[in-house]
Amino acid sequence: MTACQPTARPELHPALANRFSPVSFDPVAVVTPAQLGTLIDAVRKAPSAGNSQPWSFIVARRDDAIHRRLVKHLARSSARWAPDASLLVVNLARVLVDETCDWEYSEFARYDLGQAVAHMTIQGLSIGLDAHQFRAFDRAGIAREFDVPPHWEVTTTTAFGVAAHAPGDVTSPGTSRDRAGADQIIWPASSAP
Ligand SMILES: Cc1cc2nc3c(=O)[nH]c(=O)nc-3n(C[C@H](O)[C@H](O)[C@H](O)COP(=O)(O)O)c2cc1C
Repeated sequence: MTACQPTARPELHPALANRFSPVSFDPVAVVTPAQLGTLIDAVRKAPSAGNSQPWSFIVARRDDAIHRRLVKHLARSSARWAPDASLLVVNLARVLVDETCDWEYSEFARYDLGQAVAHMTIQGLSIGLDAHQFRAFDRAGIAREFDVPPHWEVTTTTAFGVAAHAPGDVTSPGTSRDRAGADQIIWPASSAP
């Protein structure tokens, strides 16, 4: 007797299926300390090469002092929407061992940071927080503003909050939400599901 194989494709997890990068946030929605705690827990649980955990974060709540220092460094494009988000989290990668040498800390530092940020965004979605990761800000300016030591790289920022529009209503200027097909991203294409 052969084992029955399910034929229907399992549904994508709703947090993944419905995720999008909002370009407008509810300007009064608040992220509670408990919600922030769970976002940080998601990072702490993320895997990293050799458990190196090459990440740290600058956390700014809308209207707090850190936020005021951070938003000055946004590019014109992100300054249109990011300040309204409840929380801005600057993502830092530990790229060198320390400030005294140029030894790489981990060849996977940026990979691990990206994965940790992905875990944080998916955890956010599971508690009703949308997220938009972005690069449009002055990385050197933020490093200076917050005295980020030279062995840490200011990489990206994530805006967390409640989207003020539906996916597809608007997208980031100059970008599309089209996706490559499975046959374009699987090698060889003949093995694509
Ligand atoms: C590393 C990274 C950098 C990004 N930088 C920007 C940015 O500077 N400005 C912006 O509006 N969106 C930025 N995005 C969001 C992407 O444009 C967006 O994820 C992509 O267009 C797909 O749309 P979706 O997230 O709504 O599915 C960035 C995303 C990532 C992961």
